[in-house]
Amino acid sequence: MKDNTKLYKVLFVCLGNICRSPAAEGIFKKLVEENKLGDKIIADSAGTSGYHNGELPDSRMRQHGARRGYKFDSLSRKFTVHDFDDFDIILAMDDSNYANIMRLAPDIESERKVYRMVDFLQKYSHDHVPDPYYSGADGFELVLDLLEDGCNGLLEQIRDGKV
Ligand code: 4NP
Repeated sequence: MKDNTKLYKVLFVCLGNICRSPAAEGIFKKLVEENKLGDKIIADSAGTSGYHNGELPDSRMRQHGARRGYKFDSLSRKFTVHDFDDFDIILAMDDSNYANIMRLAPDIESERKVYRMVDFLQKYSHDHVPDPYYSGADGFELVLDLLEDGCNGLLEQIRDGKV
């Protein structure tokens, strides 16, 4: 971590905030706890659309996550311009999310906080985390595989002070 005395705040963003980003939040939080970093790093998630405000994650995402030992129970909320002030790093799941976030960035400092989740992949090579909403079980499993890999890479880079 760049500044060990300050809480590091991570925000995961997708379109609906009911599939990919709440799963990323749950996976990353578990990893942070396992590494005893809960007092140093916090995580949240949001969606660019607001279509599902107040909703729990999609039941399919929750079921697939539960099979791997995760609990995805955050409530959907819309990404806002205030998130640039409230978070140190903002992770987009795909190019559309990335463009929608960047469009709201008020300054260069805010733009520099925005990354793609796939920037942190270590084992997998993928150019985005695909939206599983209209997919079958395989789509949800792929999302979890990519997010577990990306969350490991992200935590490593945070610890090394690289982001
Ligand atoms: P997410 O998936 O962006 O990973 O939460 C989606 C959820 C809902 C919709 C699209 C994507 N939707 O159009 O309602």
